[in-house]
Amino acid sequence: MKKIIITLDGYSSCGKSTLAKQLAAELDYVYIDSGAMYRAITLYFIQNRIDWNKPEEVAQALSNIQLEFVYNPLSGSSEMNLNGENVEHMIREMLVAEKVSEVAAVGAVREFAVAQQQEMGKQKGIVMDGRDIGTTVFPHAELKIFMTADTAIRVERRFKELYAKNKNITIHEIKENLELRDYIDTNREISPLRKAEDAIILDNSQLTPEDQLKLVLQWVDDAVMVK
Ligand code: DC
Repeated sequence: MKKIIITLDGYSSCGKSTLAKQLAAELDYVYIDSGAMYRAITLYFIQNRIDWNKPEEVAQALSNIQLEFVYNPLSGSSEMNLNGENVEHMIREMLVAEKVSEVAAVGAVREFAVAQQQEMGKQKGIVMDGRDIGTTVFPHAELKIFMTADTAIRVERRFKELYAKNKNITIHEIKENLELRDYIDTNREISPLRKAEDAIILDNSQLTPEDQLKLVLQWVDDAVMVK
């Protein structure tokens, strides 16, 4: 079957990565978590005390960053490596979550990440999730999905995920972080989060993961037939 590019954009914690992973497994496609790249860059900036408001510091730092997705057979998915080190767990921590939207708003950071993302899509057969994938990274993708879900549901999902790893986390903290990230991601100057005109809206507040997957696989079939 012909391979296409599938983009999944939307607010934080809508379940984009869960759906993207399921689609990649079903279709035998590559899954790329573009947010992980912004998170890894943020981690590097924090660890190396880079001031992301200073363009020269950012340029110098980016030239020292090597990002790579490495498949982990134990978890069954690709994990983020930063300069050869697996940082998959570290980039999910609050320390990074609190700063990533600021870092992702820096033009040079976006250029750096987008160029690599476009390279990864050259062979097609890719599912990429993020905020600007259907609008900026792959404006000609065959299937674009814009995901959304009620804020309360998103907060609860994120809380469950993070509480399993850190019992000190509060629901209030998660809600504040989600709302702030959505605000910054939607209002930044360069490639803000927005629905591509030709994207299909997927509100999964009331959908089971199974129903959601069935629905989207139907959209994939339709997209493959048309293109
Ligand atoms: O998908 P995520 O929550 O892991 O993304 C982390 C941050 O990275 C998010 O707050 C916004 C930013 N991001 C972005 O600006 N563009 C993307 N394509 C993906 C993520």
